[in-house]
Amino acid sequence: MAIVSIPPDALRDEITRDSRSAEQHREWCLRLEAGDILYFPESPLKIPAEDVAFLLGQHQTTSVFHKNIAYRPEKDLLTGFDAGSVPPHAVKRLHSIMRAYSNAATEVLRDILAPYQARWELDYASFRPVEEQGRDQTLHRRNDLLHTDAFPTRPTHGARILRLFNNIHPTRTRDWITSDPFGTIVGSITPQQIPLPHSKKICARTLCSLGQALGLSRALPSIKRSPYDEFMLRFHNFLKENSIYQASCSKIHTQFLPGSSWMLYSDTVPHAVLAGQFALEQTFLVSPEAQLDPSSSPVAILERMTGTRLR
Ligand SMILES: [Fe+2]
Repeated sequence: MAIVSIPPDALRDEITRDSRSAEQHREWCLRLEAGDILYFPESPLKIPAEDVAFLLGQHQTTSVFHKNIAYRPEKDLLTGFDAGSVPPHAVKRLHSIMRAYSNAATEVLRDILAPYQARWELDYASFRPVEEQGRDQTLHRRNDLLHTDAFPTRPTHGARILRLFNNIHPTRTRDWITSDPFGTIVGSITPQQIPLPHSKKICARTLCSLGQALGLSRALPSIKRSPYDEFMLRFHNFLKENSIYQASCSKIHTQFLPGSSWMLYSDTVPHAVLAGQFALEQTFLVSPEAQLDPSSSPVAILERMTGTRLR
């Protein structure tokens, strides 16, 4: 995987929407789908200075900022804080800021990733005010261990998890490590460790075997997920539990600048955040039909491995 740095001029030029621009947009989609990160040292998403000041300035005085705050665009709902300890005016202001951020993030991606034609489901946005360095979390919730994303409560059924991040800290970088994409990792433990199926009828058994080969024996609750979602959740846990992988895999260290943005398919690119405070993020679930190269998606890779449909 690679960090593809996109200078501000590239975005200003694309406003002309000429043929070169269309080709550029296709390339950006394909780079993302292949497991690269698009990095904008100067964010194309303009967040009003007064909104940033509010997000930063309230940290010392209210508990609303001690946890990650989620915004659900489809319900226009703000969650993740203790309503009893947060002044209503602060909640109202934060709600307004998150709504505006979600809208602005959507517009930016509609332009930059124009070939997708917005064929995505707008998922949650989040405000991440907590210092990541030294954060005390249970193993499966730790952000400082390399992992691919999977949502326990929001199965995607094969849609890919595209995330746009903004580092809104005024002076500090947000420090990540990333590694080889999903297809490379799964491929590296195949075929010696992962039994491949011989029949579509043994889909569930195959995925179970796949999980066992990866050292995953604990059953997961809920059956509403597709076999694909079950596997991706197990895979997320497997990577965090695997100290050998964490220690020995190839790593790229990146410091995302204050005021920068970056985007990636986080179900494809193993990532971990080592340090940083104050980030905004918007998630999009991009439909398989929108992908320019559907063969590079995790679900396609797994379907090739198992010889069966997993959605
Ligand atoms: Fe993650």
